[in-house]
Amino acid sequence: MNNFSFHNPVKIHFGKSQITEKLSHEVEAYSKIMLCYGGGSIKNNGIYNKVIDALKTKDILEFGGIEANPDYETLMKAVELARNESVDFILAVGGGSVIDGVKFIAAATYYNDGDPWEILSKRVKFTKTLPFGTVLTLPATGSEMNSNAVISRKSTNEKLDFSNPNSFPVFSILDPETMYSLPDTQISNGIIDSFIHVIEQYLTYPVNAPIQDRFAESILRTLIEEGPKLLKNRNDYDTNANLMWASTMALNGLLRCGVPEDWSTHMIGHEITALFGIDHAKTLAIVLPGVLTVLQDVKKQKLLQYGLKVWNINGNDENSIEEIIDVTEGYFQRLGVRTRLKDYKINVHDINKICKRLEDRGYVELGENKNISPDLVRKILESRL
Ligand code: NZQ
Ligand code: ZN
Repeated sequence: MNNFSFHNPVKIHFGKSQITEKLSHEVEAYSKIMLCYGGGSIKNNGIYNKVIDALKTKDILEFGGIEANPDYETLMKAVELARNESVDFILAVGGGSVIDGVKFIAAATYYNDGDPWEILSKRVKFTKTLPFGTVLTLPATGSEMNSNAVISRKSTNEKLDFSNPNSFPVFSILDPETMYSLPDTQISNGIIDSFIHVIEQYLTYPVNAPIQDRFAESILRTLIEEGPKLLKNRNDYDTNANLMWASTMALNGLLRCGVPEDWSTHMIGHEITALFGIDHAKTLAIVLPGVLTVLQDVKKQKLLQYGLKVWNINGNDENSIEEIIDVTEGYFQRLGVRTRLKDYKINVHDINKICKRLEDRGYVELGENKNISPDLVRKILESRL
């Protein structure tokens, strides 16, 4: 196992009625709270009313309209509001986009050394943020329990990420009942995003880390069992709860301890979303089978372990590897997600644009061995046409 440091300070309140029971206590110390949310789903499903009720003794300022793949220009309006109104706490109510947006707002409010976009474009480190908490309404990204954020700039078709030890939420409330109003497509997106977060911290090469491997395998198996079950019976509380927790555990920093990581599927996927507007998880479902096919030699040992432990596929030759990759892609399709570039009208010319973007950004050596060059990215994408 490799050396590692692990620190995760996020307090989690998980379960039914947690918004009503825990939120007011968690924000006791703050007086001026900026409530941030997305396009309005929380007003249709009752979550907004519960939150407002819990905050009734506080001075609240609202900032709605944070879009999916949160946009820098929108977020800068919230930054201006937070600065002008001396906000002392932000509450994010929503999915990964709202939570990531709030991480950026919290950092940018105190960023006085230049354009806050530099936090993303130049990965400038910052030391001060506004404290914030979250009420999660869509399990997918793990943002509720990690310190990462992904922000888009639609005017330039960019989508960049940052990570900072000051960007953990103070607390997150995870009530599985908030999932009842999600459209099926967001449930599928959330399952696939979580699945691939685990894969990218697991499917590399062995370093004799059985604890992390078994954590990863248990989350993958849970997603495989519970995902299709949830799509058949959307209001089953336990299935919602299992998926919500699996998704948080998939990207809260625990799985990556002491093991190599390969985030190439995400890096390629972010460029596809930035250029063509395809949902984050759908880009991953397209790219991952290509990464596994093209990199199967270097990933062979872990691919076979994954096949055996997660899919009960017993074998150690090329045919077994093909079967393992096929069954993975088939699982995404069973969740109702299309997995080929042509399904989204992306052609060979578009692949040039994606590769050029990655090259311009200097992402020339992706993967656990830093050997996924632009040429290999092209090969991966061409295998997905
Ligand atoms: O805008 P609202 O009205 O809230 O509607 C949202 C949005 O349209 C809707 N929704 C959320 N909760 C709902 C609901 N609709 C009905 N009932 C509910 N309970 O779902 C739509 C999608 O929401 P969004 O937040 O965009 O989805 P997701 O959670 O998948 O987040 C995606 C973003 O997170 C980034 C992605 O790149 C993307 O920008 N990621 C963040 C990561 C992180 N911070 O660690 C890691 C991930 O890999 C990912 O890159
Ligand atoms: Zn993701």
